[in-house]
Amino acid sequence: MHPFNAPAHRAAARRSASVAVAAGTVLGLVAVSVGTAHAATATDRGRPGVQIIGGVEKPNGSYPFMAALLSKGKGNPRDRHFCGGSLLSPYLVMTAAHCVVDEKPKQMETVVGRTVLSDKKQGHLRNVRTITLHEDYDFALLELDKPVYGIAPVNLPTQGTDALIRPGAKATVAGWGNTDTEVPTHPDRLRAVDVPIVSHIECKASYPDYDKTVNVCAGVEGKDSCQGDSGGPLFRTLKGRKGVYQIGIVAYGDGCAAQGAPGVYTYTGSAKLWDTLWKSADGKRLKRLLGR
Ligand code: ARG
Repeated sequence: MHPFNAPAHRAAARRSASVAVAAGTVLGLVAVSVGTAHAATATDRGRPGVQIIGGVEKPNGSYPFMAALLSKGKGNPRDRHFCGGSLLSPYLVMTAAHCVVDEKPKQMETVVGRTVLSDKKQGHLRNVRTITLHEDYDFALLELDKPVYGIAPVNLPTQGTDALIRPGAKATVAGWGNTDTEVPTHPDRLRAVDVPIVSHIECKASYPDYDKTVNVCAGVEGKDSCQGDSGGPLFRTLKGRKGVYQIGIVAYGDGCAAQGAPGVYTYTGSAKLWDTLWKSADGKRLKRLLGR
């Protein structure tokens, strides 16, 4: 059993959650926050910009390294979407282990460089050849059946350094996840929000299981990733440098965008994470696919 709880974010689970809430609405019940521990207070409701939570829609072609994970099927890709990801090399998409722990390669596909999920003309659609879960952390790599060329992959921080996760620094998180803390609302168009990086000490205070060697926290009340954003990138741009540096993978949070409960990310600059991955059974193959 892999150390990650899966169900809340999954496409099927999400669909049934939406149905339950829709039914509740018809019956005149108050919609509850589904799959989250945080129930928004009355003062949260209807506050402008609280909607990714607190983010904005992105124009076509934004963040081309962004990947969407889809369940295979005939339906609208918007309804088949279950997680985010990012292009790490022409053959590899990086995501969260909890997104794919119950997936078989044949049951899923991924599209890189698409902004509007339902627009099948956008991006590069690929089958998945293998799914590699990290043995210890919320991290996974998808090997694609064919390479994605012509899109610049994300850069990773220098392993074992923390220069890019200074508390207070501004990062961005993008995804097609829930935009509402109360009712599951899943957008067709990619959204992104700028979030401040939160110190390890503050994060540990919010989350007892937080591990500063492999995690980083970001977010502030009203600005956060949410259900459906999992697996997607938390990234920064650096002055005088072109390209984007991915510092985190959306992992978990207590509710979304709540005060004192920032989002928790798998830290992609963790030396421990990469060292153990290279030593694993698939290490050599993955290293080659990453071009190292
Ligand atoms: N576990 C969620 C998912 O599967 C991601 C939650 C992120 N939560 C947060 N508050 N940042 O989509």
